[in-house]
Amino acid sequence: MGRKLAAGNWKMNGTPAMLDGLKTLSAPNGTQVLICPPAPLIHRAAQIAGPVAIGGQDCHTQASGAHTGDTAASMLKDAGATYVIVGHSERRADHAETNAQIRAKAEAAYAAGLTAIICIGESEAERLGPDCLDIIAAQLDGSTPDGATADNTVIAYEPIWAIGTGRVPTLDQIIETHDMIREKLTNRFAAQGTTMSILYGGSVKPSNAAEIFTAQNVDGALVGGASLKPDDFQPIIDALAAS
Ligand code: PGA
Repeated sequence: MGRKLAAGNWKMNGTPAMLDGLKTLSAPNGTQVLICPPAPLIHRAAQIAGPVAIGGQDCHTQASGAHTGDTAASMLKDAGATYVIVGHSERRADHAETNAQIRAKAEAAYAAGLTAIICIGESEAERLGPDCLDIIAAQLDGSTPDGATADNTVIAYEPIWAIGTGRVPTLDQIIETHDMIREKLTNRFAAQGTTMSILYGGSVKPSNAAEIFTAQNVDGALVGGASLKPDDFQPIIDALAAS
């Protein structure tokens, strides 16, 4: 069992007006709530977020330098972030990010004192093929640094075909995949691996969250669309707290 984490990924959505909604979110005892807004909103979000932690959606592998348009992990930290998502499938697709780069980004996050949320997950064709779990295991292995601990790392399993589609794997598929991830983490990181949080992501809604959270090795969720409105996100947080 890892820490219970309800993480919202706003992607390239969000206005200053939406930050007011953060004030209405509550984080029940024992449950960490996180919102990852676009980078320009992080500073303001961190000032008003109360019990809600704030994170970035990506960081560069380097601490500084000639990388126009990129953001260093330390800059996210300075702005008030405590987490950063790395290797989201949209970054892997839009920016051709590799497992090795994502591992380096996670290391940059650690160096800045941020917790890295490392995303992995298969395409639909891979889900239908015979090697699905092996593919996910290879992503996990390649994207996770040797220095990962239960404190500095969260794993997010996000099937690409479930993101923003309203489709979710069966509960059995989620259980099987998360159990595999837990086994790999425990084999590689021993006690740290047994308590590292593993989130499920992909079309998590108020209507399906409670069922997903019944899975033993699902410690929380990475939520896109349903994190944009407090009325949708709070029931997911509450379902996690009750699980
Ligand atoms: P979704 O996105 O909840 O809108 O499917 C999840 C994610 O991409 O993190």
